[in-house]
Amino acid sequence: MAERKERPHVLMMSEITVDGKLTLKRGASSKILMKYMDHATEILLHRTRADYDAIMVGSNTIRIDNSFLTVRLVEGKSPLRVIPSSMADIPPDANVLGPDAPTVVAVCGKAPQDRVRAIRERGVHLVVAGDDHVDLPLLMQTLYREFGVRKLMIEGGPTLNWHMLHHRLVDEIRLIHLPFIVGGADTPSLVGGMHIENEAEMIRLTLKNHYLCGTNLVTEYDVCYPGEGGVHAGEPGE
Ligand SMILES: NC(=O)c1ccc[n+]([C@@H]2O[C@H](COP(=O)([O-])OP(=O)(O)OC[C@H]3O[C@@H](n4cnc5c(N)ncnc54)[C@H](OP(=O)(O)O)[C@@H]3O)[C@@H](O)[C@H]2O)c1
Repeated sequence: MAERKERPHVLMMSEITVDGKLTLKRGASSKILMKYMDHATEILLHRTRADYDAIMVGSNTIRIDNSFLTVRLVEGKSPLRVIPSSMADIPPDANVLGPDAPTVVAVCGKAPQDRVRAIRERGVHLVVAGDDHVDLPLLMQTLYREFGVRKLMIEGGPTLNWHMLHHRLVDEIRLIHLPFIVGGADTPSLVGGMHIENEAEMIRLTLKNHYLCGTNLVTEYDVCYPGEGGVHAGEPGE
């Protein structure tokens, strides 16, 4: 794992239904749900993007949502966009590869060269981190050292969220609670991946703030991993 201070401070931010889901059903774009966010909360999301050096989402979110990940609703600079995609499996015409903001695509050493070439031709930074899959701790270290990223936000989806938590790379969580229930046992929720075996493996959160943003409840937590005493790596501004 990377040196604790040699990585950015990481915020996980998500829009989430009352039943903990991130979208309407498996394979559906979260943009449908986001239409129901209060305008004040959309502003909060864009202000947070403007406050951060980089924003990361999983490659499946890019394939499904075709996100831009830019700052549009407030004044401010769009963050560096970071997409881990082990096999460089991102459509070459994806919005995130466009010229609106700089982008890093992280691949592994086994990524097919024709796909890597097609992505590189869009003018993005290509980072090889890991042999068989993107090594997220190594990617965090690279973003810190080579791209000067001190504050990174991740906006899902659940697979990336799980891997980041599994590697203890998330310091804070901010949730925008949407007053809906969508159901569905296989509908993506905040965190996917593997279940835990017992309560000792639970990741504990400390609620540090809650407020209404327009009509949406927003909650903010610090993350405390099993065996940690509430000490958090990568404080902002380091
Ligand atoms: N409500 C919200 O805030 C919100 C936000 C974002 C997304 N979503 C929703 O979430 C859904 C997509 O979530 P998802 O779980 O299917 O996919 P995801 O988390 O967006 O992307 C996961 C993919 O990232 C790639 N990846 C590369 N290296 C990785 C690594 N080391 N660890 C983890 N992932 C790595 C893998 O694809 P490769 O095989 O290509 O490497 C993996 O399948 C969509 O429906 C989207 O709308 C909702």
